[in-house]
Amino acid sequence: MSVPGDPAGVDLVVTGLRELVTCEPALGDGLLGVIPEAAMAAAAGRVVWVGPQSRLASAVGIPPAARQLDAHGRVGLPGFVDSHTHLVHAGSREHEYALRAPGASYQEIAAAGGGILSTVRATRAASVDELVELALPRLATLLRHGTTTVEIKSGYGLTTADELKMLEAIRRLGELQPVEVHATFCGAHEIPPEFKGRPDAYVDLVVDEMLPAVAERRLARYVDVFCEEGVFSVAQARRILEAGAQRGLRAKFHADEFVTLGGAELAAEIGALSADHLLRARPEGVARMKEAGVTAALLPGTAFFLGLPYAPARAFLETGARVALASDFNPGSSMGCNLQLVMTMAVSQMKMSPEEALLGVTLNAAHAMGLEGEVGSLRPGAWCDMLLADVPNWRHLSYVYGVNHVSRVLKRGWLVVSR
Ligand code: NIG
Ligand code: FE
Repeated sequence: MSVPGDPAGVDLVVTGLRELVTCEPALGDGLLGVIPEAAMAAAAGRVVWVGPQSRLASAVGIPPAARQLDAHGRVGLPGFVDSHTHLVHAGSREHEYALRAPGASYQEIAAAGGGILSTVRATRAASVDELVELALPRLATLLRHGTTTVEIKSGYGLTTADELKMLEAIRRLGELQPVEVHATFCGAHEIPPEFKGRPDAYVDLVVDEMLPAVAERRLARYVDVFCEEGVFSVAQARRILEAGAQRGLRAKFHADEFVTLGGAELAAEIGALSADHLLRARPEGVARMKEAGVTAALLPGTAFFLGLPYAPARAFLETGARVALASDFNPGSSMGCNLQLVMTMAVSQMKMSPEEALLGVTLNAAHAMGLEGEVGSLRPGAWCDMLLADVPNWRHLSYVYGVNHVSRVLKRGWLVVSR
C-alpha cells in the first residue's frame, strides 16, 4: 500500500529496495508494514512517500536535480534508536569483567569500590574535550551499526561541576557528528564517596543544586535515577524524578534491575516516559505501566554481559505494554552497542518475535524517548533516517548474528555511512 505525502520539493529518491520495512502497519504488510520491491521519496530530510516502486513515478514528481540512490536489492529500514546508553565516560573496566568470570557479582565489585565509582574517578579527572574525544569513535561505531538516534546519560560526575561537564560533552557530541543525541541528567547514578552513608543529603544536592543548574542551561531532556537496593530508594527516586518533571525533564529511569523494589510501579505512578532494565520487575507492575502508557525498555545486553537471567519479556508483552530494546552501552555492565545483536538476544533469549525485536529498536525505542513520529519509522513526515542492509530479507538482521549487516546509513536524507 502506498501513502502519498506532500510530493512538492522531492530532493531524494531511493529505488531498488527488495523490501522496505516502514515500522508502520498501515503502510505495508504485517506488524512491520513491509513493502516489497519498494521506493522512498524525501524532501528536506523528511520522508514524503513510500510505496511500491511501480507507483513511484505516478505518485511523486521527481525534479531532475533530485539525488537518486539505487539500493541494488538491499533491504531498507528505519535507523535504529538507542534509548539508553552511558556512552560518555572515561577509563575502562576490563579488570572487573575478568573478575566476574570466577564469580564476583556486579554488586560485590561495586561494594569493593569498583563499579560506577571507578568510572566516576576517571571521568572526574577528564576534561570536556577529553570526554568528547573518547566518545566520538564510539558514536562512529554506533552509526556504522545503524544507530541514528541515541540517548546519552550523565552520571559519572556526581558533583554539580562534573555532571555539567558530562552534559556539556554530550551537547557538543550532538553538534560534531551525524548521530542525533539527546541527553539525560543522571546525577543520581550512585552515591559519591563524599556522601557515603548520607544518601538523603546527596539527594538534596541533586534536587536543590544540580537539577536547577542543568535545567537553566537546557542541557538535558530527560532525568534518570538508579533506583536500586543500596543506591536510591523508591522514595528518593520519586523525589528526584518529580523535581525533574517540575523543571520540564521527562523521567526515564533504572528500575528493578537487580532487586524487585517497585520501580515499575513508581514509573506508572509518576507517568514516566520509560522504565528501564526491569530484570526483576513484577508483571503486575508492568501492567500498571501499560495503563499509564509507560514504555518498558529492556536491555538484554546487560543480562548477557553480567550472566544474569533475562527480563521476562513475554510476561511483559502479555500485559500489552510497549517494549523497547536498548544497548545500555557502558563500561561496567554492557560494553556493546550493536542493536542487531541486541535483537538476536531478544529473540533467542527473551522469546520475543523477530517483529517485536525490530520494533523494539525502532518505533518503540522512539516512544521510550518521546520521539515517535520523528524517528523510528518511515511514515511520511518522519525524518528520513534510513538504513540499507545487505540481507535477503529483514529477518536476517537478527537471524545471522554477530556481524554488521548495515552498509548504508542516511541521516535526515544525507548519506553518512557507505561501506
Ligand atoms: O545500566 N545500573 C546502573 N547503571 C549502569 C551500569 C553503569 C556502570 O556500571 O558503569 C547499568 O547497568
Ligand atoms: Fe544503564
